[in-house]
Amino acid sequence: MSMPAFKDDSPVAQRPKLYTVEQAKELDAATVKDLFAAHINPGQLHFLKLLGFDKILVDRAEGMHYITRDGRKILDFFGGFCSVAFGHNHPRIVAARKTFQDENRHEICMAFMSQYASALAANLAAISPGDLDMVFLGSTGSEAMEAALKVAEQAQGPGKSKILHAANSFHGKTKGVLSVTDSTLYQSQFKLVENRVKVPFGDIEAVRQALESDPSIGIVVMETIQGGGGIVEAPLGFWRELRALCDKHGVLWVADEVQCGLGRTGQFFAFERDGVVPDVTALAKALGGSKAAMGAMIARREIYMKAYGKPKTALIHAQATFGGMGEACISAIEGLNVLYDEDLMGNAQRQGDYLLERLNALRVKYPNLLKEIRGRGLMIGVEFQDISETMPFGVKHMVALLDDKLKGSLCGFVGALLLKEHDVLVAFTEYNRNVIRLEPPLIVTREQCDQFIAAFEDVLSRGVTGIVTGYLRKIAAAKG
Ligand SMILES: Cc1ncc(COP(=O)(O)O)c(C=O)c1O
Repeated sequence: MSMPAFKDDSPVAQRPKLYTVEQAKELDAATVKDLFAAHINPGQLHFLKLLGFDKILVDRAEGMHYITRDGRKILDFFGGFCSVAFGHNHPRIVAARKTFQDENRHEICMAFMSQYASALAANLAAISPGDLDMVFLGSTGSEAMEAALKVAEQAQGPGKSKILHAANSFHGKTKGVLSVTDSTLYQSQFKLVENRVKVPFGDIEAVRQALESDPSIGIVVMETIQGGGGIVEAPLGFWRELRALCDKHGVLWVADEVQCGLGRTGQFFAFERDGVVPDVTALAKALGGSKAAMGAMIARREIYMKAYGKPKTALIHAQATFGGMGEACISAIEGLNVLYDEDLMGNAQRQGDYLLERLNALRVKYPNLLKEIRGRGLMIGVEFQDISETMPFGVKHMVALLDDKLKGSLCGFVGALLLKEHDVLVAFTEYNRNVIRLEPPLIVTREQCDQFIAAFEDVLSRGVTGIVTGYLRKIAAAKG
């Protein structure tokens, strides 16, 4: 790979040669690929090439679409793992940001109280059920979850700081939450927090046994719907029973709503399904209006006050440098108003029900390809049959030469063909390679759902051999 010629290697350069904003906007795909490999993540490029995604350079994004440099309009059913709830560049959120800039409003406000952060925190408290009233603002889901575990641990004290978490969980990759993210790949080289225990997700008896046998467990942390695990829900009533168990044993329940929250399931928080309230929760992803990095930990007032309520404890986990930046708060405030004004939660429910119905019909039609359709609202998992045993011998060999990861799973082939031939983008799944995730923006229309289903059926109709050979012909052949 040739290095981009732009970098000045001279050790005495007064001013390094820097890309300007205009130059950055005009870079071509080949140069971006070189820069990505040289400075960001060469290993990741392998996977982008495998899927043919390295050929795409997005120029703009509007509503449900990415628009590429060569004018393709890509329908976004990926939604940035739920970060694009409002669609790309929602006009009201963009306008609120522009006005904020035109008025020369301040961004960083560490010395004073911020009216924007205060209003956003009040909005989140107004939306959240029960006394989930106290808000810590950060920039990412991991940061919100770090804050969630810390407030719970501080409130419980050292004698009750053991954390119970779920198998196949994903709570982020920063040092603290990594210990409760159940992935050997992500965890293996790092020293983890030791006082933790794992149970199968959605198994209330396993939780009961753990809490009854170990009084040092003080915190239960779980995603309400597992995203990285492949869109997996706990049985109806699970959260109600968990709430009762936590109350009985003096345990705090931390609900990770980073991916499933913010209206995606048709309710603002997915835990509302069971009519109960956790002690602490966390939001991120689309919270910044799909324009800004924004995460929030929301704690019950009683828990927060116990942890940080006194002047002596107030600064233990207080505002970080970029927590509650002005424009990020404005984006979030406008986004929350848009969510209600445009009935995006109602739309998520309606379009989600429609998609589930159409996908289930496809499952009945293509039982050799589709194993299960699951999810709620616009958080849908499409699980494919494992084809490691059934893949025709001839193609199996060719696929194995490309990458081991492609061997048993149809998802990579299907996702690559959807993009290449239909301009439709879907998401893959960390822990279950047989699951495609559909998490489109909450503004998706019935027509766009039909467009997706038509594209998906076109690919499915080719059968295993047709899908794999189509991939080998169209994507693997162009790999380079
Ligand atoms: C449930 C859940 N929690 C936490 C995180 C971490 O969020 P971030 O990537 O913003 O740090 C994610 C990210 O995918 C997530 O899905």
